[in-house]
Amino acid sequence: MSENKETDCLCFYVNGKKVTENNADPETMLLSYLRERLRLTGTKYGCGGGGCGACTVMVSRYQPGTKTILHYSANACLLPVCQLQGAAVTTVEGIGNTRTRVHPVQERIAKAHGSQCGFCTPGMVMSMYTLLRNKPQPNMEDITVALGGNLCRCTGYRPIVDGCKTFSPMCFVGTHDIDCVFQEPPPQLFDQEDLLPLDPTQDLIFPPELILMAEMEPQVSQLFRGERMVWVSPVSLEELIQLKTSHPQAPLVMGNTNIGPDIKFKGAWHPIIISPTRVQELFEVTKTLQGVCFGAGCSLSVVKALLEGLVQEIPEEKTEIYRSLLQQLGNLGGQQIRNVASIGGNIVSAYPNSDLNPVFAAGNCTLNVVSKRGRREILLNKDFFVGFGKTSLKPDEIVLSVFIPVSRQGEFMRAFRQAPRKENALATVTTGMRVMFIEGSSVVKELSIYYGGVGPCTVSATKTCAAVIGRKWDEQTLSEAYTQLLDEISLSPSHPGGQVEFRRSLTLSLLFKFNLQMLHKLWEMVWTGSLFAPIGSLLGQSGDDPVGRPIMHRSAISQATGEAVYCDDIPKMDGELHLVLVTSTRPHAKILDIDISEALRVPGVVDVITSKDIPGKKFRTFTGIDEGILAQNEVSCVGHMVCAVVADNRKQAKRGAALVKIAYEDLPGPVFTVEEAIEKQSFFLPQRMIERGNVDEAFDKVDHIYEGEIRLGGQEHFYMETQSMVVVPSGEERELKVYLSCQHPTYAQESIAETLGIPSNRVSCHVKRVGGAFGGKVTKTSIIACITSVAAWKTGRAVRCVLERGEDMLITGARHPVLGKHKVGFMNDGRIIAADLHYYANSGNTADESLLVIEKILLHLDNAYNVPNLRGRSVACKTNLPSNTAFRGFGVPQSMLVTENMINDVAMKLGCNFLFPEQIREINMYKEVSLTHYKFEFDPKNLLRCWDECKEKSDYGSRRKSVAQFNQQNRWKKRGMATIPIKFDIFSVRVSVRQAASLVHIYKDGSVLVSHGGTEMGQGIHTKMQQVASRELHIPASLIHITETDTSAVPNTCPSAASFGTDANGMAVKDACEILYQRLEPVRKQNPEGTWQTWVTSAFIQRISLSATGYYRGHDLYMDWEKQEGQPYAYFTYGACCSEVEVDCLTGDYRTVRTDIVMDIGRSINPSVDIGQIEGAFIQGLGLYTLEELKFSPSGVLYTRGPSQYKIPAVCDIPLQFNVYLLSGSDNPHAIYSSKGIGEPVLFLGSSVFFAIKDAVAAARVEAGMVGTFTLNSPATPERTCLACNTPFTQKVRRCHQPVSIHSLPQPIMLDPNPSMFANLNMEFSYCFHLTDLQT
Ligand SMILES: Cc1cc2nc3c(=O)[nH]c(=O)nc-3n(C[C@H](O)[C@H](O)[C@H](O)COP(=O)(O)OP(=O)(O)OC[C@H]3O[C@@H](n4cnc5c(N)ncnc54)[C@H](O)[C@@H]3O)c2cc1C
Ligand code: FES
Ligand code: FES
Repeated sequence: MSENKETDCLCFYVNGKKVTENNADPETMLLSYLRERLRLTGTKYGCGGGGCGACTVMVSRYQPGTKTILHYSANACLLPVCQLQGAAVTTVEGIGNTRTRVHPVQERIAKAHGSQCGFCTPGMVMSMYTLLRNKPQPNMEDITVALGGNLCRCTGYRPIVDGCKTFSPMCFVGTHDIDCVFQEPPPQLFDQEDLLPLDPTQDLIFPPELILMAEMEPQVSQLFRGERMVWVSPVSLEELIQLKTSHPQAPLVMGNTNIGPDIKFKGAWHPIIISPTRVQELFEVTKTLQGVCFGAGCSLSVVKALLEGLVQEIPEEKTEIYRSLLQQLGNLGGQQIRNVASIGGNIVSAYPNSDLNPVFAAGNCTLNVVSKRGRREILLNKDFFVGFGKTSLKPDEIVLSVFIPVSRQGEFMRAFRQAPRKENALATVTTGMRVMFIEGSSVVKELSIYYGGVGPCTVSATKTCAAVIGRKWDEQTLSEAYTQLLDEISLSPSHPGGQVEFRRSLTLSLLFKFNLQMLHKLWEMVWTGSLFAPIGSLLGQSGDDPVGRPIMHRSAISQATGEAVYCDDIPKMDGELHLVLVTSTRPHAKILDIDISEALRVPGVVDVITSKDIPGKKFRTFTGIDEGILAQNEVSCVGHMVCAVVADNRKQAKRGAALVKIAYEDLPGPVFTVEEAIEKQSFFLPQRMIERGNVDEAFDKVDHIYEGEIRLGGQEHFYMETQSMVVVPSGEERELKVYLSCQHPTYAQESIAETLGIPSNRVSCHVKRVGGAFGGKVTKTSIIACITSVAAWKTGRAVRCVLERGEDMLITGARHPVLGKHKVGFMNDGRIIAADLHYYANSGNTADESLLVIEKILLHLDNAYNVPNLRGRSVACKTNLPSNTAFRGFGVPQSMLVTENMINDVAMKLGCNFLFPEQIREINMYKEVSLTHYKFEFDPKNLLRCWDECKEKSDYGSRRKSVAQFNQQNRWKKRGMATIPIKFDIFSVRVSVRQAASLVHIYKDGSVLVSHGGTEMGQGIHTKMQQVASRELHIPASLIHITETDTSAVPNTCPSAASFGTDANGMAVKDACEILYQRLEPVRKQNPEGTWQTWVTSAFIQRISLSATGYYRGHDLYMDWEKQEGQPYAYFTYGACCSEVEVDCLTGDYRTVRTDIVMDIGRSINPSVDIGQIEGAFIQGLGLYTLEELKFSPSGVLYTRGPSQYKIPAVCDIPLQFNVYLLSGSDNPHAIYSSKGIGEPVLFLGSSVFFAIKDAVAAARVEAGMVGTFTLNSPATPERTCLACNTPFTQKVRRCHQPVSIHSLPQPIMLDPNPSMFANLNMEFSYCFHLTDLQT
C-alpha cells in the first residue's frame, strides 16, 4: 500500500448509529471523539492514561471466523478512533436513559446507593454492563474482576458491589441465599422487590451492516492522515511485513497501552503508525501436545481465558507455567487494559517491571518472529531483554506468535509479584521462578529465576541459578543462594523508583516463598448480622415523611445514565477558548523574563495571560497572608502558576504553553522538609500552643517517660472530576457567569470580583454538581477561576479551563504532611499523667488555610482521652513544595494519629503488664462529664457507648485470642487488631462558615424549587434538603426540585465543608419552608379538605407570597488562644472502629480481614447517605494511612501525578467483612432533626487498619527477637511494613554480606495454614446498622 494515498473513510457505530469519519486523526482517542465530536458526555475523563476507568465503554466486534460477536470493555482514553473500523461502541447513553428506559445496571447501582458524586458511575456501569453481556449471571469474582479497573473516590465500593451483586444468582442481596455469608438477615438499604429485570432483548443489537461488511466486503488496508501522524492499517501479513520493512521505526500499535501513554505523557511522536489489528495471523491460537502458541495480537484477556480453559483440560503437572502466567494475569492492570493489551505488545514493550516477561523467560517460552528476511524463533531469555524498553528484535521484525510450553515431569514454576496495590498497579518487584528436579530426587536439574523491577529490564539471576543447579534443594543450598542472589541483584542507590532496600529484600523473600512452596512440593512427592429495622417502620412517623429513611441520592439515576451534567459537560459556547496553565519548573527562583512570542505564533493561540493582565487585586488573602494569583517576580515551588495560554482548543493551548519560555535565576537553599524548615525557622505565623495543667511539673511525678515521633505523609484529594470551570462574559455591564466545580461558590465570586476590580453583583457563580472535592475545591478552585476570568475578561470570550489529572495533582496541593513528636509521662498502671505534643505541618509555599489547620490539630489532640497535663504546640512550615490545603478532616487525621501512636507506645513500653493498646485507651478515656483541654464541657456517654458496642459487635475479646493463636502458628503471616475511638467536633469557630441561607419558591402548579448555599459533591446534601423541605411543607419529595447552587439566588453562602453542610443549610431550608407553610395556614383553614395544589392556587389568588428566604444564624462559638479556652464547636460526633489485618511479612502485603464501625450520628436524616459517607471516609482513611504516598524528587518535583503512580484504594482494598452500626438512642439538640455531621469524622478511623498493621508487625518483630517500641510511619505501605517486620531477609540486606543463619529460618515444610487468604478476592461484603428510633 502506498502511504501517499488519500485518507480513507472510517466507519464504525456508536450506540447503534453509524459514524463515518472522513478525516480521522490518528492522534484522536475515542474519549475526546465521543465528548467533543458526538457530544456524548456520559463517558468521563478521569486520568487519560487507562488508570481510573471513568472512560469505560463497551466495544463489540464481529468475528467472521466463529460468526460470533465479541464484547469487551475498554478505556476510551487510550482507544484511537482509527482502530475502530467495523466496531460497534456502546457508551453509557446507549444502554438506557431517563427519557425512555433506564438499564437495570444503571438502576441497581443507583438504588444500592453506589453513586455519590457520580463521576465514576458511568464507567462502573459500563464495566458491569459488559460483564453482563458476556455472562448474565456472574459470580462475585466476576464482579470484582470486572470492576477492578474502575476507581471510585467517594463510596468505598461496597454499595457499588452490592448493586452489581443483585445480578448474581448466588449472592442476591437481601435474600437468605446459601452462598451469602450473612449470619443474620441482611440489611435493606434498598428495596429489591421492584428492581427492573435484566432483559437481554432490550440491548442494542450488533449492527447488521457491520456483519455484512465483515462477511461480504473484501478487507482492504486503510490509511488515515492527521495533522502530524499517518495511520496505516494493513490486512495481510505480507503487507504488514512490507510496511515494517519500509518503516522499521514505526511502532505496531495493538492495544496502545504503551504507545498511547508514551505519546500523551512523555511527548513521544511517531510520524507513521502501523496498526496490524486486522492481520488475522496475529490472532491465531494453536494448541499442541508441547504447548500453546498465541498469536502476538491476542489480548491478555484472551490469553487468560484460554489458559484458564487449558488448566482445566490437561493434567495439572503440565500446567505449571500456565498457572504462573494466570497468577500474574489476574493482577495485571484492570480488566479494560487486559482486554486490549496484546501479549506481543507486553513482551516487546519490555517494561522493567513487566509481570509476564519474567514468567515467559523463566518458562523457556519462545517467540516466532517474521521479517522480510523470513521467520526465526527466539528464546525469551536474558539475551532478549537488552535494556529499558529494548529487546534484541531487529527494528523491522514483527512478533508473529508466542509459544508457551507445557511443563514437564518434575518441573515446577511459580510467579510472585509485590505491588503498591494488590490489583491494577505496576509491580515493585515481580518474578518468575522455575525449577526442575532430577527424577526421584531433590537434586536440581534446571533452575531459572527472572525478576522484574530490579533493573532496567527483566533480569536473570543466572549466577544464583548456576550455584544451585546440581545440588539438593535444601536449606543449606538455599541459604547460600540468598547470599549469592544478594550479590547478583545489586541495585544502585539511584535505582529509578527508589525503594532499593525493599526491592532487594523482596528478591530474597520472593525466592524464600518459592523455596517454601518447592519444599512443600518435594514433601508431597514423598461478613454479619443486622438489627436493621425494616424500611418504613419508623414508629409514629407518617408514611410520606422521607426524613430518616434511606432515600436514594436524588441524582443517582441521571448520574448512572450519564445524563447528569458536570462542568466540562456544558456544551461549548460560541467562540469559546481553552486555557492551559504554565507552571514553574524551579522550586525557588527569580523570574527574569517570560517570553511568550513563540507561544503566540502557534496557530489557534489567542493570548497569554500574565500577572500584568490582572485588572484588580493580584493576590488573595487567606488567614491574613497574601497569596499571588499568578507569580510576578518570583516562583516558590515547582508547579507555581506563572501564566496561562488561551487558544481555540486545548491542543493548541497545550502546544502554546509548552513554548512559553521563562528565564529564571535560582534562589539559594530551597526548603522542602519540615526539618529544613525548622532549621531555617521558615514558618507561617503565628505558631499555636495550648496547655492544660502543668506538663513540666507532672513529668517529675510519673513512673515512666517516653519520647517518640511519627511522620504522616500528605494525601492527594484525587476527586474524580479534576478542577473544571467555564467563565462566560455576558458582553454587557461587566457581567460574568461562572460555571465551576467548587465547594465555595461565594468565595469564587468574591475572588473573581476583586481580581477584576468589579463589584460582586456582576459575577454569578453556578455549581450544578461537583465530581468529588474533599476540601480540594475551596481555595485552589477560586484562584484558578480568577485566572480564567482574567482571560475571559481580556479576550471578551468564554474561556474553559479543565485541568488534566497530572496538572491538577501538581498544582493544587494536598493534605498537609505532618511530623508529630510526643513526650509522654505515665504510671505503671497505664494512666497517662502528662503529654507534650509537637506538630510540624508542611504547608508548602503559601499559607492557604494552614493556620486554621494547625489550630484544628491542637484542638483535637486529646481525641478521646482525659490527660490531666496536656500540652500541644503546632506550626505551619513554609516550604518550596506546592501549597497544601484543606482535606477531609482538616488536620484532625494528622493530629489524632500522633495521639494514638503515643498511646500505642505507652502500651508497648508497659508491654509486660498491658498486652494491648486498647487497655491503655480505656484507662485514659474521658469517663464522665468533663472539660476538654480548651475548657469546653461535654458528656462522653456516647463515646463510651460506641467503644463498648464496637468491642462487643466485633467480638474483640475472642478474636484477640484467635489472632494470638494465628500468630503462634504462622511464621510469615501475622495478624493484628486495633480498636480506635474518635471524638470529632462539628461546626467551626469561623463566623464566615457558621451561617446559611435558602430560597424556596412554590409555583402555581404546586411544584417547589429549593435553592440553598450547599454544593452537591456526592455527600447527598440536595437529597437531604429535599427530605427537609418535604417534611416541612408536608408534601411528597417528588414535588420538590433542588436547583443548582447559584450565588445570584442565595448570596453570601458558606463553603460545603467541615461536615456541617446539612446542619446549616438544612436549618435554612427548614426556616424558609416553615415560613411558607405558615403563610398557607389561612387557606388550609379555609379548606381543610383541600389538597396542596388547591391551597397553592388559593394562596396565589389571595395574593399570598409563595416565595421565601430562610436563614440560619449558627451557634455563637469562640476560641480565645490567649486564654487557651473557648467553645469552638457545637457538638461532637463519636465513634469507634475495630479492624483486623493479615500481613505477609515477606512482602509487606496486607489485607483487611474485618472492620466493625459503630458511629453515633444522632438521628440520621438519611441512613443510606450517611452510611455511604461512613464507608467512603473509612476507605479514604485506609488509603491515607496504608496506601497513598506522594513522592517528590530531591529538587521538589512531584513524581506522583496520576493513578499509575499514586494509588488510591480500589475494589480489592475493601475489608473482607465490613460492618457499620449506627448507635441507637442518640439525640443531638444542636443540629437539624437531632442529626449529626458525618462527612469527615470517620476518615480517621481508617487508622485502625494502620494500628492493626503495626500490631501484626510487632508480632513479627517479637519472633525476630525485637520487643518494645518501634516507629512505623504513615502510610504503612508494603515497603514500610515489610522492612519493619525485620525478617531475616531484610536483616540480610541491611547487613549485606553476612550469611543468613539457616537456623533463623523457620521449619520449611510448614506452610502457613491459611495460605489462600490473599487469593480470596471472592469477597462477601456484609454490613449492618441500627436504624435508630428516628421519629421526630
Ligand atoms: C493502566 C495500565 C496498567 C498496566 N499494568 C500493568 C501491569 O500490572 N503489569 C504489566 O506487566 N504491564 C502492565 N501494563 C502494561 C501493559 O501490559 C502493556 O502496555 C501492554 O501489554 C502492551 O501491549 P499493547 O498491545 O497495548 O502494546 P502497544 O502499546 O500497542 O505497543 C507496544 C509496543 O510493542 C510493539 N509491538 C506490539 N506488537 C508487536 C508485534 N506483534 N511485533 C513487534 N512489536 C510489537 C509496538 O511496536 C510498541 O513498541 C499496564 C498498562 C497500563 C496502561
Ligand atoms: S480517563 Fe480513561 S482510564 Fe482514566
Ligand atoms: S461516586 Fe465514585 S467517584 Fe464519586
